Amino acid sequence: MVSEVPQEMISEVEKLRAEIRHHNDLYYNKDAPEITDAEYDALMRRLQQLESEYPSLVTPDSPTQTVGAPARVGEEEETFAPVTHSVPMLSLENVADSSEMKAWYERTLKGLEAESAAFIVEPKLDGLAVELVYEAGRFAQGSTRGDGTTGENVTANLRMLKEIPGRLKGAPELLEVRGEVYMKKADFQALNRRREEDGQATFANPRNAAAGSLRQLDSKVTARRKLSIFLYDRGSVRRVAHGGEVEFLGFIAKLGLPVVEHHRCANLEEVEKAYQDYLDRREDLPFEIDGVVVKIDDFALREKLGIRSRSPRWAVAYKFPARQARTALAEIEWSVGRTGAVTPVAILEPVQLGGVTVRRASLHNEDEIKRLGVMYGDTVIVERAGDVIPDVVRVLTDARTGGEREIVFPKKCPVCGSEVVRPEGEVVARCTNMACPAQVQGRIQYFASRGCMDIEGFGEKNVGLFVEKGFVKDPADIYLLDKKREELEKLEGFGKKSVDNLLKAIDESKTRPLWRILNALGIRHVGEHVAHVLAENFGSIDSLMAASKEELEAIHEVGPKVAESVRD
Ligand code: IVH
Repeated sequence: MVSEVPQEMISEVEKLRAEIRHHNDLYYNKDAPEITDAEYDALMRRLQQLESEYPSLVTPDSPTQTVGAPARVGEEEETFAPVTHSVPMLSLENVADSSEMKAWYERTLKGLEAESAAFIVEPKLDGLAVELVYEAGRFAQGSTRGDGTTGENVTANLRMLKEIPGRLKGAPELLEVRGEVYMKKADFQALNRRREEDGQATFANPRNAAAGSLRQLDSKVTARRKLSIFLYDRGSVRRVAHGGEVEFLGFIAKLGLPVVEHHRCANLEEVEKAYQDYLDRREDLPFEIDGVVVKIDDFALREKLGIRSRSPRWAVAYKFPARQARTALAEIEWSVGRTGAVTPVAILEPVQLGGVTVRRASLHNEDEIKRLGVMYGDTVIVERAGDVIPDVVRVLTDARTGGEREIVFPKKCPVCGSEVVRPEGEVVARCTNMACPAQVQGRIQYFASRGCMDIEGFGEKNVGLFVEKGFVKDPADIYLLDKKREELEKLEGFGKKSVDNLLKAIDESKTRPLWRILNALGIRHVGEHVAHVLAENFGSIDSLMAASKEELEAIHEVGPKVAESVRD
């Protein structure tokens, strides 16, 4: 019996398909995505859900049934000859959390009619899938995945990758290997820096940079970009057999091919542990990953499970929580630090990101604002990497309405109104008024902080109060606070006991070693290390103050810049 499909479902499915195809084209062909991966996954999931509710709506060309995007043929200048893959190159289903992972795991064992099986966990590299064909040990052809059946012939460009050997010794008659071409984080940053200097558009992320670099009609361009590759799969292989992927990867590694790191896991707990381990190390890895891939190792078991139209049943992508979100930049807060540095902080429409609500993102400095080309009111992509405060990584210029306004870096300090100066060759602009309340507050807070004099009760709130009341204008005033006991006790939230504690903490800080005081003063170019050096060489603050610039410079590790700064 065919169930009746409501018209609104038909329309929604059609709309979703059109939308997903549009984003597939932007992502796979133009290397210029307009939405985040998480937003894309949400569209795809909704389509999958509707199609499973109304199976009569499924068509063979639905994005849920197809891989990637059709390669551009003859449409624009950058076209490559088509290559038909002897074995289709598939995509992967996603799972987003541990309960979905558990469901996949149980479904897979059920499909195998087994209690357990050997799994492998690999990093899910964020690049583009390619196939390399070796005939009698010679690298004969390389292609992109394309729509899974037909890809683009990028042999000449792949030859430019140092990691891809032109010849393999002892290789079988036919060897088709598959993997991911990617760009290391460091190479990506260097490439973007160069492009910026040359006034060219920068790449949004390493994946786009890798895809854009490989799909170049001029191989010389590819050669200048540093691309890397990891192999993780096979196509046709003739006259040699392997039991599973671990064995196969071991075999091709011996031939000199670069294989992806892979971990054997005997059960779900081990899979979870491997996933967590990659999540913990994500920022330290030299390449971007957006999750792990979990696979059945044994090829015979893979056969038994089989494939769907676009993805195998024997593997799944276990994605990491999203790090990117789209939001709007409402305002800029110009924060003034203890050295007078004026730092732009983006105030955002609150957005959920990796389990927390994000309201602010750093914009670093004037150059960064220029590099991003960001304006008030812009729709932006924010990303939380290792740091707690996210960065603005991209502006979605297509989302502009015309009402956006230019961001002008202030010429006057937003706190005290004094002149802001950015010396030539420096990226940081500073408020020039040493007495600026923001600078005073910053200096006192820094002086009393953990790594410096470590005075309890001198957090942001209290220091703000002491500065506002005029009790403390410089660090020396801290040590005169015992004369202001009565006034302190009258402050809101303070009583006899808390003032006692505060004065006790101040007293205790008098025993800190000299290097800590030197560090705490926040002299430019004098950090912890130089503070140690100065303390060892002069022994007391009086002899340091008496030292001439020449005497200072005579010390190994003290250059003219440091010496001048200390004298000042
Ligand atoms: S295995 C039959 N292993 O992720 C599918 N894929 O979202 C074989 N990918 O098309 C793929 N790292 O481009 C596999 N270690 C890894 C991978 C990996 C990245 C990519 C690959 C695939 C896509 C699916």
